[in-house]
Amino acid sequence: MTSIPLLTDKPVPVIGVGAMPLSNQRADGDPMPTEDAVAVLHHAFDLGMTLVDTADIYAPDGHRVGHNERVVGEAVRTWPGGRDNLVVVTKIGIVRTPGHDGDTWSRDGSRDHLLRAAEASVERLGFVPDVICNHRVNRTQQPYADTVRGMLAVREAGFAPAIGIGNVHLDEAEIAWEVSEGTIAAVENERSPRFRGDTDVLEWAVRHGVAYFAWSPFGGGRDAAELPTRYPAFAEVAAEQTESTGAPVTAHEVALAWLSAYGPPVVPIPAFTRFPTADSAARAAHLTLTTDQLARLEASPSMETSLFPD
Ligand SMILES: NC(=O)c1ccc[n+]([C@@H]2O[C@H](COP(=O)([O-])OP(=O)(O)OC[C@H]3O[C@@H](n4cnc5c(N)ncnc54)[C@H](OP(=O)(O)O)[C@@H]3O)[C@@H](O)[C@H]2O)c1
Repeated sequence: MTSIPLLTDKPVPVIGVGAMPLSNQRADGDPMPTEDAVAVLHHAFDLGMTLVDTADIYAPDGHRVGHNERVVGEAVRTWPGGRDNLVVVTKIGIVRTPGHDGDTWSRDGSRDHLLRAAEASVERLGFVPDVICNHRVNRTQQPYADTVRGMLAVREAGFAPAIGIGNVHLDEAEIAWEVSEGTIAAVENERSPRFRGDTDVLEWAVRHGVAYFAWSPFGGGRDAAELPTRYPAFAEVAAEQTESTGAPVTAHEVALAWLSAYGPPVVPIPAFTRFPTADSAARAAHLTLTTDQLARLEASPSMETSLFPD
């Protein structure tokens, strides 16, 4: 456990949980049964991964927007460890609209939309989350300072005690910091063996003590299994750790330990839908990499483009 005072007074785990795939469509068009999803989250919380990330748009399809917040809400409300021991993050500002040919996606950072979306998130969760982040920047239509003011209105209205930003470039993080008078609590950006294009934002977060939630830390659900072969430096360090600790260590665990090693405000938020992968993520919280291993991982090749480029 660690401490990120800007974010919350609660202890913050070294590794959190991304809940998105618990709402993904399976072969039959439906997500996994809610009781199974809740069991996975309870298992993760029991293992000490007591920060959970959701969003209003995480859902099997546009007709079921809010599905993931409902699942997370149920898991949090029913966990025997208690709501006070969990840090809940949700995100607003993307609009997912169902249509005949699939969903359409847009962004709305207006004050009115953010307030409406935050109220809906609180209702679906069944409690006030610890932090609400703006999911993505509407770069073509809205000055970012206005979006940040909208997020401040969300906080003032009591929909969350802390607010954050997401998928930002450094200049946007700096705007948010200035407009919020240094009260932005979190930034949620992509960082993984695959994508390391925002080192300036990561350094900004560490400098200010702003929580940095590293999303898709394995490069996303579709490619996660390929991590050891696509990014062999992580497999090499895993083999070294296996040798030195005498217990099996995987490339995925090394990826999480490498992200955690940036410092306490950096919290990777891997997703898992099964107990064994949750167990593996939890083990990574106890893995210590050497300075030399961290330097080799940092210098190893990555992809230049984001999973979801703007
Ligand atoms: N803010 C944003 O714009 C944004 C964008 C994307 C994602 N996110 C957040 O980031 C979270 C994670 O991202 P993601 O779901 O895209 O992908 P991810 O965490 O990079 O990969 C998830 C996949 O990794 C597998 N996995 C988990 N732990 C593992 C382990 N220890 N060893 C081997 N495989 C493991 C899981 O398998 P099983 O399913 O078999 O357990 C799952 O298929 C999301 O849930 C969401 O909360 C945020």
